[in-house]
Amino acid sequence: MKYGIETISMYVPRYGMDLRVLSEARNVDYKKYQQGIGQEFMAVPSPDEDVVTMGANAAQQAIEGIDTNSIRTVIFATESGVDQSKSAAIYVHKLLNLPENCRTVEMKQACCSSTSAVHFALATVALKPDQKVLVIASDIARYGLESAGEPTQGAGAVAMIISAHPRIMEIDSDVGYFTKDVMDFWRPNYLDEALVDGKYSIKVYMDALDHCWKNYQETTDAHFNDFHHFCYHLPFSRMGTKAHLHLARHQKASLASKELQQQIEPSLRYNRITGNAYTASLYVGLLSLLDSKELNLTNKRVGFFSYGSGCMGAFFGGTVLPGYDRFLNTSERVAWLRDRKHLSYDEYVKFYNHALPQNGHSYRTSRNRTGSFRLAGVENHQRIYESVPANVGAASHSEKALAAAPVS
Ligand code: HMG
Repeated sequence: MKYGIETISMYVPRYGMDLRVLSEARNVDYKKYQQGIGQEFMAVPSPDEDVVTMGANAAQQAIEGIDTNSIRTVIFATESGVDQSKSAAIYVHKLLNLPENCRTVEMKQACCSSTSAVHFALATVALKPDQKVLVIASDIARYGLESAGEPTQGAGAVAMIISAHPRIMEIDSDVGYFTKDVMDFWRPNYLDEALVDGKYSIKVYMDALDHCWKNYQETTDAHFNDFHHFCYHLPFSRMGTKAHLHLARHQKASLASKELQQQIEPSLRYNRITGNAYTASLYVGLLSLLDSKELNLTNKRVGFFSYGSGCMGAFFGGTVLPGYDRFLNTSERVAWLRDRKHLSYDEYVKFYNHALPQNGHSYRTSRNRTGSFRLAGVENHQRIYESVPANVGAASHSEKALAAAPVS
């Protein structure tokens, strides 16, 4: 029996900033962003979006055509959680009107928990092949203004139905793991921005890759050449390139650098124009690869490296299934990415500085362009979510409403 991804979809905010604008504001050579870290544009969430609304927007597409009665588990992976106790999965469960006989849970281990969610989901459907699991990865990558991490910010969500009837990709059960207690990147509960030791985090990422690959080889006897394409966790696109060349060098791969580049480049395209989306980032990379119209990926083997600071890594493989491209909304995704509104620097700072009240008082968020779900505000310490009727949230009203207005 095959287990894997039956459907996959993505949501990114409808706003973003061209990194040329940031480079001017920060007086940094744009080439450092474009070539040095490989980023051109970053997604910026509006005040009425959070990981719940982004996750629900992605999941709404992923469950299209799926009998929701078969979804018995929703796993929400994030490191931008909105509550210390209640799972974001419950909010999504309600917004999508999923059946009540369902288990809902949130998972955390930096960017890597989405991959654990996928593997827990695979184990669930292997035990109960008639059930499906909805896995959602949703995050907002946020660093300090003027920090080195600022140009690597981004946001987005990916949702997948994991089942015993995969149509997109079969995922192997063998995984190479690595865990080590390090402080390369973390976010204490009292901070809104991540703390990071940037250069060290890159070193730890590479170490984790080496250890995961070694453990994967010990488990499977696999060889580098078994894979046609690779998807890496992408904090910024150049990290994927660096990691791939590093792995190839260590494996003494006989491929020319152009061939190595072809193994990785298609998975980098979306990250370059959306930025880091933490838990979702690896799977944004997978969608970028799958959406590459020039490639026929049928039966192609894909190697995945998932990394989460702190740190944990996982290396695993998957095989793209025949007809996969019929189940992707590639044109809609490409149009969505193309049609995003470009923020000016001042608009970006305004969005960045927006914060919900910390005292739980009633508050309404400004209405901006969103997907089908938005954060309407807060009442009595509770987040209030709402569905957005079709076409509301698009275009004209949003530019006027950058500032949030309190209800009273
Ligand atoms: P930095 O100090 O701003 O940049 O930090 P730099 O000086 O290292 O330069 C970056 C690259 O640009 C270098 O290339 C420069 O040479 C090049 P490299 O030496 O690496 O080949 N460069 C130029 N290229 C062309 N024209 C120029 C130019 N100037 C310089 N004019 C850093 C960069 C990534 C560290 C920073 O952005 C940062 O701290 N980012 C956040 C942390 C991060 O992304 N870490 C990655 C690994 S950890 C991870 O992936 C986990 C994470 O997703 C979180 C989680 O798990 O939850 C972050």
